[in-house]
Amino acid sequence: MDKYVIKGGKPLYGEVEISGAKNAAVAIIPAAMLVDGVCRIENLPEISDTEKLLRILELMGARVSYVNATTVDVDCRSVGLSNKIYSLTRSIRASYYLIGSMLGRFGKASTTMPGGCNFGVRPIDQHIKGMRALGATISIGRGLIKAEAEDGRLHGAYIYLDKVSVGATINIMIAATLANGRTVIENVAREPHIVDLANFLNSMGADIRGAGTDTIKIRGVERLHGGSYSLIPDQIEAGTYMTAVAATGGEVKITNVIPRHLECISAKLREMSVSITEGDDYVVVKRERPLLCTNVKTQPYPGFPTDMQPQICAVLCHATGTSIITEGVWDNRFKYVNELKKMGAEITVSGKTAIVEGVKTLIGAPVAACDLRAGAAMVVAGLCAEGVTTIEDVIYIERGYQNIVGKLRALGADIVAVSEPDTPEEQDKRMESVC
Ligand code: EPZ
Repeated sequence: MDKYVIKGGKPLYGEVEISGAKNAAVAIIPAAMLVDGVCRIENLPEISDTEKLLRILELMGARVSYVNATTVDVDCRSVGLSNKIYSLTRSIRASYYLIGSMLGRFGKASTTMPGGCNFGVRPIDQHIKGMRALGATISIGRGLIKAEAEDGRLHGAYIYLDKVSVGATINIMIAATLANGRTVIENVAREPHIVDLANFLNSMGADIRGAGTDTIKIRGVERLHGGSYSLIPDQIEAGTYMTAVAATGGEVKITNVIPRHLECISAKLREMSVSITEGDDYVVVKRERPLLCTNVKTQPYPGFPTDMQPQICAVLCHATGTSIITEGVWDNRFKYVNELKKMGAEITVSGKTAIVEGVKTLIGAPVAACDLRAGAAMVVAGLCAEGVTTIEDVIYIERGYQNIVGKLRALGADIVAVSEPDTPEEQDKRMESVC
């Protein structure tokens, strides 16, 4: 398994292009199962999560052909349920979207319980509640989820989500697309990838309104036709590069972004005295002055994203004064703090709050990526630390960041990936659950 070795202390300069959004891709690939024709998906990120989901569709009988590295044609006309997918579905959090797409497509579903980065309990009760309201009978046992629609087809329903959930919103939208009648989902999540999924489905003939607000209305249609769709850029990848520049200093133009999606991140970085200039599809991040402390609370969109919490924490480690970070989405997303402490960070965690005392500099050290965004935070910390940082378990990082080493090197970072043969434990890790 690769390790990253970073010699810190170099400011970043230049231009970096952001890839397609991971969390849109992992919803849209399963949703492609509903399409009765060939659907072309463009701007796919080249990451292991998307590769695994495409492989799952292939194992179910889909034809998947790459037009180029980031464009794929998917033809799901001959798919069927298959137990060959189970070892892969167990290793992908987003495999829970297969419940919605299988139910929508076949009126029945059979998959495994999803895995997931371990930042607290990750229930799927709202997904299940939604599927039941749409008329599915669901049984869960021995790690498998089986579901069946009463008359072979789901029916429209009114569903109120007790918790704002990205996953439940997406899953129910997918399931309701081909259901008989009208579905209204209240108290839904509003993340950009939810709008992207609705746009994808609508471009193939679905009738979904209200994505991006807190109520989504879906009129079920008989079939979806083929077409082509280009994914939005990844908000979190862009935010991660923004924090990297904030931490190291320098000036970087971040291209292929939707600046509106980054406003929650830009606002915080500005409070920290980082300059952000927005263009139509780029932002320029520049840090010349010392960083100021600030407080951050993560919330569902348009709040500050939980998936940027570890990275902003790595930046706040150098800010003058005391910052308070409150995690408002997950129960336990501060495991990475112990790794930052190995680099000299002064952070105290109490429940869902972390108090960060700014230090003059972090010191390079051997650390591990506990999960995808925790790993990204280690990269940010390593880039600005004095000396050498070695990051283990980078497989987590590569699940969500396309070519992070190449992109950072092009900005002047001294980072290399060092390959070593996998130990048996590392081989197991490769099959573990993902975010
Ligand atoms: C998605 O996870 C993302 N994953 C996560 O991205 C992200 O952290 C999260 O949304 C929040 O933005 C994917 O898109 C694959 P939720 P998801 O359902 O859908 C509770 C990353 O780093 N909840 O919005 O699983 C839950 O416990 C990652 O890219 C219920 O109580 O998150 C949490 O407290 C990791 N019941 C909150 O809602 C449910 O049925 C939000 O979870 C579902 C969720």
